[in-house]
Amino acid sequence: GKVAVLFGGTSAEREISIMSGSGVLEALRARGVDAHAFDPAERDLVELKRDGYARCFVALHGRHGEDGTVQGALELLGIPYTGSGVMASSVAMDKVMTKRIWQADGLPTPKYVRLAFDQQSREQIHAVPDVLGLPLIVKPPREGSSIGVTKVMGYSQMQDAVALSAKYDADVLCEEFIEGEEVTCAVLGQGLGAVALPVVRIAAPEGAYDYQNKYFTDEVKYHCPSGLPEAEEREIQHATLAAYRTLGCRGWGRADVMIRASDRKPFLLEMNTSPGMTSHSLVPMSARAAGISYEELCLRVLASAAL
Ligand code: DAL
Ligand code: MG
Repeated sequence: GKVAVLFGGTSAEREISIMSGSGVLEALRARGVDAHAFDPAERDLVELKRDGYARCFVALHGRHGEDGTVQGALELLGIPYTGSGVMASSVAMDKVMTKRIWQADGLPTPKYVRLAFDQQSREQIHAVPDVLGLPLIVKPPREGSSIGVTKVMGYSQMQDAVALSAKYDADVLCEEFIEGEEVTCAVLGQGLGAVALPVVRIAAPEGAYDYQNKYFTDEVKYHCPSGLPEAEEREIQHATLAAYRTLGCRGWGRADVMIRASDRKPFLLEMNTSPGMTSHSLVPMSARAAGISYEELCLRVLASAAL
């Protein structure tokens, strides 16, 4: 039957979703799938049912797309969709909720302070570096693609960092900075059948792994195979699979991880339940290293569509 590739949407990551979805649409069509573009920003999701779509490939990023809301609508419409269900999507969209679950399960994630919308007085903001040390990271808990993120080097930067983050989300997440290497690990499948793909190591000049350089320049170098020692690669994959399973993720996902330089311990930063599929994105890169082409990856993700 017909497949709708959902992309665009209304989140701050709309531009990225359009790049992801266009790639997916082209790949599915190249493999003979009767796939069509569907932008929830322009059309009502109920039209999916009226127009006879059998399945949806969710290539939306961010809120109202990756956060369980669209997934809930598709559940009600009875149309199978790719990726995680309602609960895993909504939990993973919120980095604070994600951390609480990982901490409860003993999975390593950096220390944090959540400044709720009503806890952002000067005094409360300035108390954060006393708890987390410096530098520290300030970010909106429900955003992606590094939008609204600041690496704070000193107390004087805190106020501006919180104000920037608060533009995107009323609550603000302040997180301990893990000095070390940034890596990412993709997962395909679900439950005990979930498998981790090869780790990607991100080599960015200091402070350069931001929105612009993630998608629009070649400033950042990626290594896959990662070049990490075999034991470290495996430890990251194990942590990622545990992180994925405990959130109840399905279909596919990608964990972003920091390896602490001092003891090489991996720290989980977040789980992306609708990972980027742009020409600069990391799941396609990792899949390629595992012998899975971009087109093949799209077909495999589509095949996992469920209710
Ligand atoms: N949030 C972006 C799309 C990613 O995780 O790939
Ligand atoms: Mg993310």
